[in-house]
Amino acid sequence: MELGHILNNDQSREELDEILDETARMKALFQIAPGRRYLRDVLKDKVIVLLFNQPSTRTREKFELAAKYLGSNVIVITEVAYTSVVKGESWRNTIKTHARLGADAIVIRHPQNFMPHQAARFCDQLHFKTRVINAGDGNNFHPTQTIGDLFTLKEHFGEKFGKEILNVAIGADLRNARVLHSLVAGLAQYPVKLTLVSWPTFQLPRKYLGPLIENKRVRVLKETEKLREKFDLIYWVRLQTEHLEKDFREGLRRKYNQDFRVDRKFLKIFLEDNGIFMHPGPRAGEIDDNIDRDPRVKDGDQVENGVFNSMALFKMMLNPRFYIPQTSET
Ligand code: CP
Repeated sequence: MELGHILNNDQSREELDEILDETARMKALFQIAPGRRYLRDVLKDKVIVLLFNQPSTRTREKFELAAKYLGSNVIVITEVAYTSVVKGESWRNTIKTHARLGADAIVIRHPQNFMPHQAARFCDQLHFKTRVINAGDGNNFHPTQTIGDLFTLKEHFGEKFGKEILNVAIGADLRNARVLHSLVAGLAQYPVKLTLVSWPTFQLPRKYLGPLIENKRVRVLKETEKLREKFDLIYWVRLQTEHLEKDFREGLRRKYNQDFRVDRKFLKIFLEDNGIFMHPGPRAGEIDDNIDRDPRVKDGDQVENGVFNSMALFKMMLNPRFYIPQTSET
């Protein structure tokens, strides 16, 4: 399968399953030295630009490592102040310049919604083959975080994932966390029952609920006190302060970190013994670090799997016919 631009979480169940299988092959091959050497030819002579107009640690690093492990040339731009944008260059001309310089893919993080979508449109209009990956746009979507997270879920739950109904609780800044908008769209392809926990003013905008609401697989709770059961997956995020008025940020963060705090007691009460807790990072005070001793806490796996998932996405996008063997064949 050849992937086009990745802008939203609109992949079908079949496409997602194929990406997760390719991720598993990448991960297995990477564990052995000959496999790592073999992978270095996947993107030989390709050019990947990471255009990060907003801060990032794990997303930028996962894409940079993935591109390098596959042998690509990589250009990383994290300081817009040192690009020609400050001289007045338009978004269209910025994208056109990267494409003319040979970018096979541009990975974009941007504080404004839909800037990666615009970039993809420019590439198509100008007949460039350059592919665009949305690495997080404003408070809209973060599609590759979700695709990588689905892999972590499949890795943990195995055959059960995709066959049996998973009971999932998601909290708590559902209004602004692009990761959660993507997660809800991605999980909608699998059998899940969702409980959404947030303050009334921070609920998930209806446009992101899609088919889940029609199938009545969602219920909305306004406080963690209303939780009454154990979950297979609890997925939590920080308060997205960058989308709040400066004057309210610290006060609201303090309240959020009290109201939606996750600690060992919380996990003991609400997480199934064989369930998992996930968080896309960064943590910003809403999580008690003592939960790290609990093996059900998987945010480290999410970070690590993100690299293998990004390798799979690049390969399926830029060199889909390159053969990735099972480790048993090597
Ligand atoms: N999950 C995530 O997007 O983290 P970064 O902001 O560190 O990339």
